[in-house]
Amino acid sequence: MPKRPLDHTPASARSATSAASAVPPPPHDLPTPLLANLTPSEFMRRHWQKKPLLVRQAVPGIAPPLARDEFFALATSDDAEARLITHFRGAWRLAHGPFEPEQIPSVRRREWTLLVQGVDLHDDRARALLDRFRFVPDARLDDLMISYATDGGGVGPHFDSYDVFLLQVQGKRRWRISGQKDLSLKDGLPLKVLQHFEPEQEWVLEPGDMLYLPPHIAHDGVALGECMTCSIGFRSPSARELIGQFLYHLAERGSVARQAREDDRYRDPRQDAVEHPARLPDGLIEQVGAILARIHWSERDIVSFLGSYLGEPKAHVVFEAPERPANEAAFVKKALRHGVRLDRKTTLLYGKHSYFLNGEEDRLPRSKKWLLELADTRRIEGKRFVTLSADSSMTALLHEWYLAGWVRIGASA
Ligand code: SIN
Ligand code: CO
Repeated sequence: MPKRPLDHTPASARSATSAASAVPPPPHDLPTPLLANLTPSEFMRRHWQKKPLLVRQAVPGIAPPLARDEFFALATSDDAEARLITHFRGAWRLAHGPFEPEQIPSVRRREWTLLVQGVDLHDDRARALLDRFRFVPDARLDDLMISYATDGGGVGPHFDSYDVFLLQVQGKRRWRISGQKDLSLKDGLPLKVLQHFEPEQEWVLEPGDMLYLPPHIAHDGVALGECMTCSIGFRSPSARELIGQFLYHLAERGSVARQAREDDRYRDPRQDAVEHPARLPDGLIEQVGAILARIHWSERDIVSFLGSYLGEPKAHVVFEAPERPANEAAFVKKALRHGVRLDRKTTLLYGKHSYFLNGEEDRLPRSKKWLLELADTRRIEGKRFVTLSADSSMTALLHEWYLAGWVRIGASA
């Protein structure tokens, strides 16, 4: 199996090419330590969905978004998606949360790990970390998961179907990876563990180090002492999921129903008397085929489906309205001074004609600049608010969103 070389080209070796190009990079596309001094564009071109990248000190001086005790408390709360994986006496076990505090093993015991998905929904520091990866479209972003493990702990060698950035935030973890083709899994285990893992490369990651893995790269991360890892995951829905969900969307929105009149139904005036009543009639199959072949959709239906489906909050997400809500005038006054931001749980996506706030579609307002800016940056600074708020439809709408808990006062958390 050929090795997959990681890109370690020093920044100095690349500067020749950038110096040669007369056009300066746009401000959002500068070389960044987060991506081993590649620009986001270079990273996307060379690595995204293609090959792994090890980044030493991607986030120097990083502290875990949650301390160990805070993390354990989150795993015991009702609205967190938590899993506990133990490998005691060589046996893999998986349990789903929420957990009682006493179900969490002692931190002195080896070989267990606790994982919580969607920490970005519960904590602003985790959300801020996730936001560093917004050079990838939000439509692809899934969540930030945190795993805590004791010495020897991990989830076993496996592969994922999505892209992931594995950022070490506390302690050390040894990662081994492989581009092996054999991705068969062990039978009879409660989790996906590869039958044959043939590591090709390995590194010990320390706090601040990060490993990017495209889908289907076999990997195994084992804690060297107590450690915490953040994984920033990107969803990629399967064709099956998309087809099923899209048809459901069309049916729900009435777009399918509109394609047939109320009295348009199966008719069989030429049906003969039958000898085999249980058999599905050929005429029925043919006619239903013809009806189904009339289903059609436009690009707008696709946009409407994607914005609603990908923007819909996860099942357990609840928005909290402000405790003592300000009226519109007071809200605007505060926003002019402190700015506004989207709540960490809010998704705001847009297409050419409409926007999707937490999956709910609406037409883009005529003056939409503020909305697109808010969607792309997730905030409007106070000074910027002064300029944009000349438009009173903006302040009325933003105030509504604030009352619903989708928008907060203050440009940063
Ligand atoms: C972990 O953090 O332990 C597992 C993350 C992964 O391998 O995808
Ligand atoms: Co994985």
